[in-house]
Amino acid sequence: MLEISSNIENIFYLLSASLFIIGLKRLASPATARNGNRLASVGMLIAIIITILKYTNTNFEWIIIGFFIGGILGLVLSRYVQMTAMPQLVAVFNAFGGGASALVAIYQLMYSREPITGTFTLASIAFATVIGSLTFTGSFIAFGKLQGIVSTRPILLPLRNYLNLILLIAIIVFAIILSIPNISSINFLYILIGLSLIVGLLIVIPIGGADMPVVVALLNSYSGIAGAGAGFVLNNPVLIISGSLVGASGLILTRIMTKAMNRSLANVMLGGIGVADGSTQSGSDENRPVKSLNTEDAAMILGYAESVIFVPGYGLAVAQAQHQINELANLLKDKGTNVKYAIHPVAGRMPGHMNVLLAEANVPYDELKDLDEINSEFDRTDVAVVVGANDVTNPTARTDSSSPIYGMPILNVDKAKSVIVLKRSMASGFAGVENELFFLEKTNMLFGDAKDSIEGMTREIRDLD
Ligand code: TAP
Repeated sequence: MLEISSNIENIFYLLSASLFIIGLKRLASPATARNGNRLASVGMLIAIIITILKYTNTNFEWIIIGFFIGGILGLVLSRYVQMTAMPQLVAVFNAFGGGASALVAIYQLMYSREPITGTFTLASIAFATVIGSLTFTGSFIAFGKLQGIVSTRPILLPLRNYLNLILLIAIIVFAIILSIPNISSINFLYILIGLSLIVGLLIVIPIGGADMPVVVALLNSYSGIAGAGAGFVLNNPVLIISGSLVGASGLILTRIMTKAMNRSLANVMLGGIGVADGSTQSGSDENRPVKSLNTEDAAMILGYAESVIFVPGYGLAVAQAQHQINELANLLKDKGTNVKYAIHPVAGRMPGHMNVLLAEANVPYDELKDLDEINSEFDRTDVAVVVGANDVTNPTARTDSSSPIYGMPILNVDKAKSVIVLKRSMASGFAGVENELFFLEKTNMLFGDAKDSIEGMTREIRDLD
């Protein structure tokens, strides 16, 4: 096996870290994101090869077995997991990331060839174990809530904030004891693992379904921070850097998500307010009349509009209608219509969900407008076409303080001159609340699967000519 000097090792680690940073930077725009992903992957490959070459006396059988199990699992997941199930997948990845970092730290303390006596290393072990373990259980609860296995309603234990405080103090005390070389013992590690696993459960259980975007982003950050902790345990610079990058970007994403929902992080973590049971019809009063139309009427309205804003939401992902929406938009543009897309930061089920979908269908990036950019344009727009979006268009978010989405900035669809809503029924969206938009005089419901409805409208518009 090739031996490498620590200088060469560090040069390659620096190269990997640079590729991670350039890759991350390129992920900021849909135009460069694919390339950014590739660069970061090459950085990771270099880091893995250098790390393997470093440990020449390692038994490689287990690494090869792990490589094949992980590789095959990754391949299967990337091919078969639906876009709509991505948030759950991200939650599971966070769980495994946190769990892996905790296991690295635990293994070091339990099986290290020489006893660990350095305070810094012991403190790093305590840190990675705590953050990794609570990320593990917290992410599995988040997965359960997103998958509908665990109720998306906030589950509120009595005195939960006091309980969390006591557990937090206990964790800090045991982590300090574990870090003091003379009194450190494996038993304190077991206690820390147990307490952290419980805290992970307790911090996610009270959070309602509508706040899940924030929680997943935060747990993503925790998994990175745990990874950085494991990097300190192993004294591995590239793991420290990559963990810190994930931790920092997760925190930035958490900030973006809380801003998009107009919530403070403390409010999300301690709140547990609001009823949120996704994909139910709760709250929908089926007796209230709505206006509905067919694809022919919708095509007439669209065919004569000068300006149209498409408002995509989770239903676009379910219907996989991104190519059809692009085709319809192109048809309208050919007729001289001004077409834009309004992108809400939490539309869909993961950050950037709509951008990814529409980029896949080659929708020009400059037509995708953020909430801040597009909101002032609705009142000058002839038709807003809501494609499988619900919560992000609900005007009650502005007015009903008892609503779980109260205060969340919404797309001002209700200000457009006329509105067409494509969805299958009157069912509520993820937050489980009725949408006042559907009952407005200017709103027309086009019931059916979004892909079929868009194809129908496209056919009818072609026939208009
Ligand atoms: P939602 O409020 O979830 O509404 C989606 C709508 O799509 C549903 O009302 C559904 O109505 C319709 N739909 C489903 N399948 C359809 C199909 N095949 N064709 C046509 N319509 C279909 O979506 P949104 O407006 O995008 O809001 C996102 C929600 O998810 C927010 O509450 C947000 O907080 C939450 N959330 C977001 C994230 C992130 S990071 N984006 C993560 C977790 C949760 P029908 O059943 O009647 O068709």
